[in-house]
Amino acid sequence: MKNIVVLISGSGSNLQAIIDACENGVIDNGRIAAVISNKSDAYGLERARVAGIATAHLAAQDYADRDSFDRALADLIDGYQPDLVVLAGYMRILSGEFVRHYQGRMLNIHPSLLPKYTGLHTHQRALDAGDTEHGTSVHFVTEELDGGPVILQAKVPIFADDTAEDVMARVQQQEHRIYPLVCQWFLQGRVIMQDDAAFLDGVRLPQQGYASEE
Ligand code: GAR
Repeated sequence: MKNIVVLISGSGSNLQAIIDACENGVIDNGRIAAVISNKSDAYGLERARVAGIATAHLAAQDYADRDSFDRALADLIDGYQPDLVVLAGYMRILSGEFVRHYQGRMLNIHPSLLPKYTGLHTHQRALDAGDTEHGTSVHFVTEELDGGPVILQAKVPIFADDTAEDVMARVQQQEHRIYPLVCQWFLQGRVIMQDDAAFLDGVRLPQQGYASEE
């Protein structure tokens, strides 16, 4: 069994999807070794406890700066000998040293069709722009914020009377399908990062990941 360490800051619905995938065999050669949050009240910590998974909390205010926080975080993560580090709603900027340490074995899910809408408030920004579709992207983490190679995206429609909450709910439904799938691909060795690109079964993926329309 390969070790997954999941970092969260909030609700942990994507964490839950990965927990479920480990239990129902969608992920068949991995286990979540630990869930770590930078927020003590993250509901995802409760989800992990219910599933019998080790949890930890690191508070930013206990560290002098980002680098020392990230070094402590990496020490904690490395104690679990991770094959894969999964960012699942982990809402902190990562130091370059931290990203380089996990390069090629750290994934993130971002609620937009990257490269569109990096950063925050993606659902509202898609609405404000009059977009008729939105979505989510699973990508390798590199030093460029939300800029690493995309592995898989899922699209959802935006309807005329949607609120940002409606769009978010629709996007999250898709996130819960695609994130466990990509974790499984990674743990099977089917997806790798090389030369700043993602490869699936040896084939270099285009900018928008697998099944791109372009
Ligand atoms: C997810 O929708 C994820 O795409 C987003 O946070 C949410 C976390 O939900 N991540 C980012 O915005 C990262 N830039 P969850 O805690 O219920 O999984």
